[in-house]
Amino acid sequence: MEKYINKIIQGDAFETLKKFDDNFIDLGITSPPYNKGEKSKGWLVRNVKYNIANDNVPEEVYQEEQTKVLDEIFRVTKPGGSFFYNHKTRWVRGKMFHPIEWLKKTKWAIRQEIIWDRMIAANIRGWRFWQIDERIYWLYKPIEGNKIGKELKSKHALLTSIWRFPPERKNEHPAPFPLVLPTRIIYSILDDKKGIVLDPYVGSGTTCLAAKLLGSNYIGIDISKKYAKDAENRLKNYLNYKNKLDEEISKHIVEKTFADRKNSNGNTGKFRNGNIIQSKLL
Ligand SMILES: C[S@@+](CC[C@H](N)C(=O)[O-])C[C@H]1O[C@@H](n2cnc3c(N)ncnc32)[C@H](O)[C@@H]1O
Repeated sequence: MEKYINKIIQGDAFETLKKFDDNFIDLGITSPPYNKGEKSKGWLVRNVKYNIANDNVPEEVYQEEQTKVLDEIFRVTKPGGSFFYNHKTRWVRGKMFHPIEWLKKTKWAIRQEIIWDRMIAANIRGWRFWQIDERIYWLYKPIEGNKIGKELKSKHALLTSIWRFPPERKNEHPAPFPLVLPTRIIYSILDDKKGIVLDPYVGSGTTCLAAKLLGSNYIGIDISKKYAKDAENRLKNYLNYKNKLDEEISKHIVEKTFADRKNSNGNTGKFRNGNIIQSKLL
């Protein structure tokens, strides 16, 4: 597998993953194309158009393909490894499609649903309340059938299951991650360990950038030659992104433990006056 490590591979996610060995990836993160149906939707959707990929296939075909890719990622991931899958709820002619529909058909244990509050999204119609959330599913590969796995350190778990940061704007790619997203995941899951981080729909390479900055190895895949090349170039200048990384790392702290608060008769709950109080047992 050495030849794939620290590379951005140009190719189809499923076909490329098929060439990989079993059980060698520690952690993965991705945002696949959402099957937004660019032909039938308004100009906002049409403008988020990928370089070469078709984002308009029958929904059943899309869900089957995603299930297959997720199961292939399961195969290449180590037992005890995780995969974070960013998606959103969509509607086609009034019918809702929820990612849980196909996630439940995969081999993964669904460990958590995180709400990503993006604070802003392109939406000018009033069919529904303005949809500014996306979801991030923490998928887990059990070890010998144990679906629970290890606990996160408190300094990571205290960040809560609602993540509030805006999408990235300073990037030519039409739908890039903000660097904070893969940074939070890699730092929380691997903590001070290093591993191999995979993104099978890597786009502008943000997942690999976060992995590199945190001292891990990475493998990125994208069907577009242009995006794969741009991502490689972005990775060469990875140190330009160090400030953003440090900003996120500084949020992983425990100010006072549960025991500290209890001993000083402080509030041991999680919320007071609308503020999160950090009070988990270490
Ligand atoms: C939502 S974007 C990912 C953006 C990425 N998270 C970033 O930070 O830039 C989805 C990517 O999937 C790629 N893609 C679409 N179909 C693909 C396929 N079959 N195999 C691999 N990549 C594909 C597109 O070219 C696009 O770059």
